[in-house]
Amino acid sequence: KKTILSGSTVTGDLTLGNYIGAINNWKKMQSEYDCLYFLANLHALTVFQDPKILKERTYSFFAQYLALGLDPQKNIIFAQSHVPEHSELSWVLTCLTPMGNLNRMTQFKEKSEKHVKNINAGLFTYPVLMAADILLYQADIIPVGEDQKQHIELCRDLVGYFENRYGAGIFKMPEPHIPKSGARVMSLQDPTKKMSKSDENEKNFVSIIDDPKKIEKKIKSAATDSGSEIKFDVENKAGISNLLTIYSVLSDKSIEQLEKDYEGKMYGHLKVDLAELVVSTLKPVKDEYDRLMQDRTHLDKLMLDGAERARVRAKTTLARVYEAVGLLHR
Ligand code: TYM
Repeated sequence: KKTILSGSTVTGDLTLGNYIGAINNWKKMQSEYDCLYFLANLHALTVFQDPKILKERTYSFFAQYLALGLDPQKNIIFAQSHVPEHSELSWVLTCLTPMGNLNRMTQFKEKSEKHVKNINAGLFTYPVLMAADILLYQADIIPVGEDQKQHIELCRDLVGYFENRYGAGIFKMPEPHIPKSGARVMSLQDPTKKMSKSDENEKNFVSIIDDPKKIEKKIKSAATDSGSEIKFDVENKAGISNLLTIYSVLSDKSIEQLEKDYEGKMYGHLKVDLAELVVSTLKPVKDEYDRLMQDRTHLDKLMLDGAERARVRAKTTLARVYEAVGLLHR
């Protein structure tokens, strides 16, 4: 059985972009593969976080994963900070990573432009920690959205650097899995930008736990393009193309089918139907989320159970790495 691993950074709330680009696929993979899904709360520290909110949000994200349909029995679902091996392997990999490789990371460039007051070393080495997340579990496939592709490339490079210096056979070479449709869901107000959960303008994204009224409003006020034809054309009709992509993934209808269905209709028709579809998809998620959040003891128990199962595997890999590089192990 192939091993699948993926995670999300604990900031904001999960968005429709996270769902369509990644978690929807995590869900599909859970019955067929050996899956690990985690909450990247160490990664969250690369941007300043209020400690109380970060803690609270870790529970919230865990509940959001479950509410979206990830099964804590079938999968190993855990928080990164519960498994210290992530940080430990990250250090070993950091010492193998040329600065130049990190300098090329487009996400670092974007983030350091956005967070000019806090360009810390963690923001720079972020992809190395991500490589540790992946390599610790001997993951074969990493289901992610388009924006993580470059980070996974770096992880693959690191496997090569490690093997050159210390020999082969310790790590598995991971492959990204990026969906054909929905790998880059765009912002609702500015469809040339990625939909992001840390966007300050909440009109730009739909959070999976937004209430239905809010969702409806956000979709109906999404920026559309000049013209009136409902056609998929990213260059000239970025807004409509984005809405069609969301519609297509959530309804399992092809874009061509949707173009046919909406021939001769107006943008408004599409928005009304899409709002309804998004609401009906997310309403049960929100209800389940609210229910789960009422029982912290239960969430704690599930999270610690996940951590324990993850740790057994992480320890095995780390011990082999320490042995290979010549570090004394406890
Ligand atoms: P994060 O939290 O930014 O996003 C979680 C997942 O959602 C995908 N995604 C999108 N897909 C389509 N359209 C969008 N607008 C969109 N926005 C986000 C992301 O590609 C991602 O798959 N660094 C990672 C978390 C991480 C990780 C890992 C992932 C840490 N370690 C190891 C995989 C393996 C991140 O911040 O994702």
